[in-house]
Amino acid sequence: MLVIAGAMVAWAQQVPQVTNVMNRESVSLNGDWHYLVDVQEEGYYDYRMNPTRWGFFNNAKPQRPEDLIEYDFDAAPTMKVPGDWNTQDERLFFYEGTVWFQRYFDYQPQNDRRALLYFGAVNYDCHVYVNGRKAGHHVGGFTPFNFDVTDLLHEGKNFVIVKVDNKRSASAVPTQIFDWWNYGGITRDVLLVSVAPTYIESYSLQLEKAVKGKKRFLNLSLQLNRKEAGREVTLSIPDLKLKQTFVTDANGIINSQFSILNSQLKLWSPENPKLYRVDLTLNGETLSDEIGFRTIETRGKQILLNGAPVFLKGICLHEEKPNGGGRANSTGYARMLLTWAKELGCNFVRLAHYPHNEYMVREAERMGILVWSEIPCYWTIDWKNEATFLNAQQQLTDMIARDKNRANIIIWSIANETPHSQERDAFLGKLATYARTQDNTRLISMAMEVTGQSNYVNRLNDNMNKYVDVVSFNQYVGWYRDVNDAPKMRWEIPYDKPVIISEFGGGAKYGLHGAKNQRWTEEFQENLYRENLAMLDKIDGLAGTTPWILKDFRSPRRVLTGIQDYYNMKGLVSDKGERKKAWYVLHDWYKGK
Ligand code: GCU
Repeated sequence: MLVIAGAMVAWAQQVPQVTNVMNRESVSLNGDWHYLVDVQEEGYYDYRMNPTRWGFFNNAKPQRPEDLIEYDFDAAPTMKVPGDWNTQDERLFFYEGTVWFQRYFDYQPQNDRRALLYFGAVNYDCHVYVNGRKAGHHVGGFTPFNFDVTDLLHEGKNFVIVKVDNKRSASAVPTQIFDWWNYGGITRDVLLVSVAPTYIESYSLQLEKAVKGKKRFLNLSLQLNRKEAGREVTLSIPDLKLKQTFVTDANGIINSQFSILNSQLKLWSPENPKLYRVDLTLNGETLSDEIGFRTIETRGKQILLNGAPVFLKGICLHEEKPNGGGRANSTGYARMLLTWAKELGCNFVRLAHYPHNEYMVREAERMGILVWSEIPCYWTIDWKNEATFLNAQQQLTDMIARDKNRANIIIWSIANETPHSQERDAFLGKLATYARTQDNTRLISMAMEVTGQSNYVNRLNDNMNKYVDVVSFNQYVGWYRDVNDAPKMRWEIPYDKPVIISEFGGGAKYGLHGAKNQRWTEEFQENLYRENLAMLDKIDGLAGTTPWILKDFRSPRRVLTGIQDYYNMKGLVSDKGERKKAWYVLHDWYKGK
C-alpha cells in the first residue's frame, strides 16, 4: 500500500520480467475473455479526448434503474486468450485499433506472498487494470512483461481488464509498414504468478569457452528482486552430482564461476540436444529449469559450435499457425512448424522478425534446432526519435532476459533491411553495443542489404559490419531483380567474418505449374532455388543461410487476387503444409552440407 496525503492508496508497478516464468508457481488466466471493440476509444477518452475516469476499466454496472452505463462486458462476446482477434472474429480480420478484454478470477492471498500479473505478449500498446485500478502500461507486441498487483487484489472474485491497441505508427517498433499480418490481441499466455517477498528475479547459467586441463567452468549470475545481502541460494545439477551454495552481495546479486569436470559434461548440440535439470533454491523454495551447455563463437569466417565449425542449414519462419493463419502460441504449433523445418534438413531457424513465443524457442531447444532471434527494427524505423530507441532497447532487453538460458539461441539480431544513414548507424550501433552488455556469450547480427551491384558484381558495404559478429544480408536475385542471372553473379564481402544469407527466395502458388520463367509457378520457384543455391556455393565465407521462408504467411501487402490473396507466397510449403517443388531442391542441397 502507498500513503498519499495520509490516504492509503492501492498501487501496482511494473517489475522486471521474471526469468523462467513457466516453472514458477502460477495460475493461468488463459481462456475465454469478454471483449468490446472500441474503434473511437470511447472507453478511454471523453468527448474532449481527455482520458476519462469513467472508462471501461471500471467494469461498471448500473446500481439504480436510472443509471446510465453504456457498456457491459458480461453481455459481450468472448474470444480465446491467448489469441489474436483477426482470426477469431471475422469482422476484425483487417481491424487495427482498440479492443478491450475482461475476465474474472479467484484469488486467495497467501501470507506475505506477492502476486505478479504476467503477459507473454500483447500486440501492441496495452493498458492493464485490476479491479478498476491501473496496474500498468506496456508497449511492444512480442516480449513479456509483468506487474506486481498484490495490493490491487482482494480475497475471492477479482477482475482484470486490458485495453489493447494495435494501431501502427511511424515512431513504433515495428514502424508503419511491415510484411506480416498485424495480429492484434493478448497473443500469449496470461499468468498470475505467486512469489515470496524476496524471490529470484533473474539468472543465467552459461558455460565458459575456455577449458583448463580436465576442468570446464560455469558462470552463474543471479539477481534477487531486492537488494539483500547474505541470502543463500543453492544451485544443484543432479545429473552432474553438483550442489553448491552461493551468497548474495549487498545488491542481492551473485556472480560466480565454478568448475566441473570436462569429462562429465555432455554439450548441447543439434545432434545431441542434451538438457540438464538445474535447481535454484532460495529460502526452501526451488525454481527448476532445463539448461543445455555449449559454446558459440566465430573464428575468421567460421562459426564454431562447441569449438567445431558448423554450417547453419536454416529457414526463416513467422510465428503463424498453418491452415488459415493466426498467432501460434503453443508447444503443439511450435513442434509442427519446427518438424517441417527439420524434415527440410534444417539445424537452424531464423525466427522472423520479432521474438517468437517461449514455446517455440524451448521446443526448438529440445529438438536440437539452433535459433536466430530478432527484434522488429524493420525497414524505416524512426532513427532520430529517442523514445523509439528506448522502445527498441527495451524489446532487446526483454528478448535477452527471457531466453538467455536457451542453449539453442546463438544469434541475437537487432534489425532487418534498414536504410543506410548516420542516424541509423548511430541507433543500431548503440543497440549492438548494448546487446553485448546484456549477453556477451552469443553472436550479434542483423539482416543487411546488398548495397551496390554492377556487371554482376554484388558488393556489401555496411558500416554496421564493425558491430556484428556475423555478416548477414538478404538478397533476392531471381525474384525482385536479375531473373535467371544468379549463375553470373559474384559477391564482394570485404569482411573477415562469417557470412549468412539471411533471406533469398521467390513466390509460387502450390499446384500452379508451367514454364520455369512463368511467375508464380512451382517451376519458377524451383529454378530460382537451383540457381541461387549454386550461387551460394560460390560465396566465400558462407557459414549458413535461412531462405525466405518455410510457409506461405499472411500479409496485408500481398493483394494479387487469385495468387496471393493476402498471403506472401514465398513459402516452400503452402499454408496447409503442402511441399512445393523448390522444397526438394533445398532439401537435397542440405543433405549435401
Ligand atoms: C524482405 C523482408 C521480409 C519480406 C520479404 C519479401 O526481405 O525482410 O519480411 O517478407 O522480403 O519481400 O517477401
